[in-house]
Amino acid sequence: MNAYAGLVTGAGAAQRRQIYADPAVYEQELERIFGRCWLFLVHESQIPNPGDFQRTYMGEDDVLVVRQPDGSIKAFLNTCTHRGNRLCRADRGNAKAFACNYHGWAFGTDGALVGVPLEKDAYFNEIDKARFGLVPVERVESYKGLVFGCFDRNAPSLSDYLGDMKWYLDVWLDALPGGSVLLGEAQKVEILTNWKLPVENVCGDGYHLGWAHAGAMKAVQSMDFSGFTVGNASVDLEGGLSIAGLNGHSLLATVDGVSGYSFYPDNGEIMQWLEANRPTVIERLGRTRGERFWGSQLNFTIFPNLQFLPGLNWFRVYHPKGPGRIEQWTWAMAESAMPDSIKQRILDNQLLTFGPAGLFDNDDGDNLAACTEQSRGWRTRQMDVHTNMAQGRSGARAGLPGEIAVGVVSEHNQRFFYRRWQEHMAAADWSAVPQYNLNPLSAAEGRAHVG
Ligand code: FES
Ligand code: FE
Repeated sequence: MNAYAGLVTGAGAAQRRQIYADPAVYEQELERIFGRCWLFLVHESQIPNPGDFQRTYMGEDDVLVVRQPDGSIKAFLNTCTHRGNRLCRADRGNAKAFACNYHGWAFGTDGALVGVPLEKDAYFNEIDKARFGLVPVERVESYKGLVFGCFDRNAPSLSDYLGDMKWYLDVWLDALPGGSVLLGEAQKVEILTNWKLPVENVCGDGYHLGWAHAGAMKAVQSMDFSGFTVGNASVDLEGGLSIAGLNGHSLLATVDGVSGYSFYPDNGEIMQWLEANRPTVIERLGRTRGERFWGSQLNFTIFPNLQFLPGLNWFRVYHPKGPGRIEQWTWAMAESAMPDSIKQRILDNQLLTFGPAGLFDNDDGDNLAACTEQSRGWRTRQMDVHTNMAQGRSGARAGLPGEIAVGVVSEHNQRFFYRRWQEHMAAADWSAVPQYNLNPLSAAEGRAHVG
C-alpha cells in the first residue's frame, strides 16, 4: 500500500491536512499527477500562425508550445540543452528561431539545434548538433481547440482521458461553428495556497457562494445575483446538478439554459443572441444539451488543474509552485460566434469579478491561503478536513453520463476530485490507475435527446 494512499478516506469525504503542506506529498504529486496526467497547454486560437509560440508550465516544468509550419503543434521543455538556461523569456509571440541568452545557441521552431557560436573555432566542428535538440513533451494532443501535453508515453489517449466528459465539454467547445476562444492576455496572480484548494473550491463548492461572496455580491450592485443573495438568504439548493465520476473530471451546472448570463446588467443583447442561436445548438447537440446546458452557468473541471466557467466566462489553469504556492492564470473566454460587443461585455465582467483585482477572487484567495497556512502546524497537519455534505445521495440521472447529485450546493464533486487524486498517488504507473465513466454515455445516449 502506498504511503500516501491513506490520506484521503471515506470515499473522498475526508482529507488529511498534511496533503496541503507536506513537501514529500508535493514531490509525489509532481511525479504521479503532473508528470502523468494530460495538462492544458494552450488554446489553439492563441497560436494560429506558424512560428506562434506561448510559454506555459507542466507542473513546475517550463514549457514552450510552438505552431509548426505544417499547422501542427509541438511542445518542448523551455530549457537550453547546453547549460540549462531558460531559453525563451517572452510569454508569447512569433519567432523564426529561439536563441539562448547565455552563449547564443539557437534552436529552430521544430526544436532542432541550428546554431552554435564558434562551432568551428571552439568546438572544432566536432559537436553533434542532432544530440542537443530541445527535449520534446512526449505527447501533444488536442480536443476541439484545447491543446494538452503529457509527459507519460503510457498515458491513455487524450480522448480516452477525457472520456464521457467530452459529451459535456461540447456544450462549450462545439455548440456553434467556430467553437470557443480566449480573450486577451493571461491575467497572472500568485496565491499562497496549495493547488488542490482552488480546484476543489470551483469544482464543487457551491456552499461558499452565498456566504464568502456575500459582500462582493452586495458591492456589485449593478449585477443581479438574485439566485445567490447575501448571507445564504436564497441560495437555491435544488437549482442545478453536481456531476462527477468521470475520471476525476466534473461539472457544476444550473441546467436552466439561461442563468449563465442572467446576472449581467442590461443583458437584453446577450439573451437575444442566446435565443437566436439556440435552434442551431439544439440541431448540433440535441435538446438536452441545447436547452438545459447551453446558456446555463457551468463549472468545468478537467483533472488536475484546468477549470473554465461558461456564464462567468473565465478560463483558468493553476500552476503549482511548491506545496503552498500557485501561479493562477486566467483568461476571459467567449464563443467565437459572439459579436464583439458581447465579447467586450464578457471581458469587462470577468475583470470585475474574477480578474486579478476581481471582487470574488479576492474573497476566495484569502480563504484558500488561510486554509493552507492552517494545515502547516505540527498538530493541524494531523487533522482531517471534510467534504461529506449529502454523501450517499447521488446516482444516475436519465440521459446524462456521470454520477450525479442534485443541486450545486453539495460536496459531491470534491469527493470525486480527491478520490482521483488518491488513485493517482497510490498508482505506480498508468496501468494501475482505474479508468471509469460512471453511468456511461453508451447507456445514457439512447435517452439523451428525449424531452
Ligand atoms: Fe544556453 Fe549556453 S546555456 S547557450
Ligand atoms: Fe468563490
